[in-house]
Amino acid sequence: MTRYAHIIGWGHAVPDQVLTNDDLAQRVDTSDEWIRTRTGIRERRIAAPDEYTSTLATRAASEALRMAGVHPREVDLIVVATNTGDYIFPATAALVQDALGASRAGGFDIQAACTGFVYALTIASDMIKAGSIHTALVIGAETLSRIVDWEDRNTCVLFGDAAGAFVLQAADEPGGVLHSVLRADGSGADLLKLPTCGTRNPVSHEALERRMQYMHMNGREVFRFATRVMNSATREVVEKAGLTLDDIAWIAPHQANRRIIEAAAKALKRPMDHFLLNLDRYGNTSTASIPLAIYEAAQAGRIRPGQYGVLVAFGAGLIWGAALVQWTGPRPTRAARPRPRWHRVASKAGSWLRRARRYVEGRLTR
Ligand code: ACO
Repeated sequence: MTRYAHIIGWGHAVPDQVLTNDDLAQRVDTSDEWIRTRTGIRERRIAAPDEYTSTLATRAASEALRMAGVHPREVDLIVVATNTGDYIFPATAALVQDALGASRAGGFDIQAACTGFVYALTIASDMIKAGSIHTALVIGAETLSRIVDWEDRNTCVLFGDAAGAFVLQAADEPGGVLHSVLRADGSGADLLKLPTCGTRNPVSHEALERRMQYMHMNGREVFRFATRVMNSATREVVEKAGLTLDDIAWIAPHQANRRIIEAAAKALKRPMDHFLLNLDRYGNTSTASIPLAIYEAAQAGRIRPGQYGVLVAFGAGLIWGAALVQWTGPRPTRAARPRPRWHRVASKAGSWLRRARRYVEGRLTR
């Protein structure tokens, strides 16, 4: 029997601190008027010093699990799409697994720039459809404020911090994540990158002096590429599903720049109200931007069960892609229930016990 991967819960996390365009105008040579008219962004959220990609991801995942009525122990796989993981390794997914007490889950990170969430959703849903797992958490989470050069007006006005999460689960009824298109073109790798911290240019005094630990971008070229692929990837995934653009009720685009989305709307001949938008309040939150936009639209009743929607993204790499979903929503048979307090305490205690056991084993076998 054919298996489907349904989206049965969604969650989000945004830091409390709001940074407005006027705040930014006090740091770099820019203005609210320039940022609003060139990008559509009014403000963005900035993580507090004790907030990390893993903590935002855990908050979003907890909310999604609560909505789905799924206990962390039922999760088979955690995939975190991020460009700003807490570390190069270990994977942020492992930190999320520990914080959630998802004791039976595997986990790994996906790095596909701003398209990471579309890739993560594709991998997790294909594993569900193949029968190798039953329940997955797919998370997009970022603390981009930590890799933005706050002295570079070309980039610092664009980005923000956030997380969004989906719970995917197997079911026999048709629906959920149906088709995807994944593409890459590494000939554009130089257009957007974080030059150091990887192994090609390891961290050094010279690299830090040249501010290579921050994001570097050729905005104009990325803009041109983005307007082209938003159109082509959306059309391709709709065609792959045997549907037409008229069947699509909404499009959740990567929230990078309102003008890129307007150009896509024009090319696809869709009105702007077909697009789920929130970049005015959060800026570009990379992998978090699509699940966050869908979260808000679903909570507002803007997207409904049975509707077809397209998630479409682009980013560094160059990498781009789209996924076509048929929205289902939480299972009516599963009442939303909070993760019991005892489980939070027990999972924290379990984590400390495992650390203690490793320490003792290490001493004994020395
Ligand atoms: N405030 C004021 N002026 C600015 C600012 C600013 N914040 N930033 C740039 N400018 C200036 C430039 O210096 C330039 O001045 P010049 O003509 O004297 O050189 C002028 O504004 C115009 O610059 P452009 O680059 O042509 O501006 P454009 O209209 O293209 O907008 C932008 C720039 C917003 C960056 C746009 O190109 C864009 O959105 N590109 C796509 C970026 C993107 O989507 N990146 C994310 C990819 S996802 C990922 O993987 C992380």
